[in-house]
Amino acid sequence: MRNNLEFRPLGKTSESIPEVGMGTWGMGGGMRADSSGDSESIEALKLGLELDMTLVDTAEMYGAGHSEEVVSRALEDWRKPVFVASKVSPSHFGYDDLLLSARKSLERLRVKQMDLYQLHWPNPRTPIAETMKAMEKLVRDGMVRHIGVSNFSVAQMRDAQAALSREEIVSNQVEYSLIDRSVEEEILPYCQREKLTLIAYSPLGQGRIARGRGGPFKIVDEIAARLGESRSQVALNWLLWHESVVAIPKASDKKHVVENAAVSGWKLSTRDFQEIDKAFR
Ligand SMILES: NC(=O)c1ccc[n+]([C@@H]2O[C@H](COP(=O)([O-])OP(=O)(O)OC[C@H]3O[C@@H](n4cnc5c(N)ncnc54)[C@H](OP(=O)(O)O)[C@@H]3O)[C@@H](O)[C@H]2O)c1
Repeated sequence: MRNNLEFRPLGKTSESIPEVGMGTWGMGGGMRADSSGDSESIEALKLGLELDMTLVDTAEMYGAGHSEEVVSRALEDWRKPVFVASKVSPSHFGYDDLLLSARKSLERLRVKQMDLYQLHWPNPRTPIAETMKAMEKLVRDGMVRHIGVSNFSVAQMRDAQAALSREEIVSNQVEYSLIDRSVEEEILPYCQREKLTLIAYSPLGQGRIARGRGGPFKIVDEIAARLGESRSQVALNWLLWHESVVAIPKASDKKHVVENAAVSGWKLSTRDFQEIDKAFR
């Protein structure tokens, strides 16, 4: 079992975060709280932390808040550094609502401070200036360390940044995988140019990459077999070839957790990278 996870810069800050973190959608329920899988989720998260995947991404929306509670239980006995990212739902982007959401997330997470607080989706109904004023207050009051966005276009990222008076947005969390490469058009080049971290969600296509059939997948399988890696590992490593990208696969199965942590610390050859790139273009 490899355990040499590499870190990447967080935006323009002097901090760095693991290039592979852990997603938690589905842990603690979907749109509603469901505690039936809590033990499995907590065990998987704990194992991931041991393997250095110390970036954990959750949201107030996941399991109607219960996902944050699951994360807090996984962190209960963890004494080493961890980077906790959560998200506020678009319906809570009003000034007072946002402050309340943050307080509730901190309570559920049982931490004094979130390392990254992200606007989950854009919400054109609430002026971004109002939302960002609340985000800056959270930073000023020490409840949040860094501000991020999620599912924002380049224009929305620019507006969001312009609405901030002191802070800089450090990241945009967007869907990015071999089977959804739409961010390569504008968002990824913008993040790379402006030194924002692109947090790739659904980096395994919500499990579809492992199940996929057909030509492009055969190429990945051939490369994976030659390297002694799994298809999912090659797909994640291909993502990490891109500067400014970190990935947050979600895994409840311990075998998957171990595989995902082992995606860091090595690199596909240029030839293998290009072959996969071409196959999924
Ligand atoms: N900001 C947003 O709007 C947004 C939207 C979607 C997701 N996200 C975040 O991104 C995270 C990841 O995305 P996701 O959960 O949608 O999908 P994903 O990480 O692409 O895929 C998760 C699925 O892949 C399986 N899997 C994990 N590792 C594997 C491996 N090594 N080999 C084979 N299968 C593997 C998991 O199975 P097991 O669980 O059985 O191990 C699970 O079924 C979420 O959990 C969430 O934190 C954010």
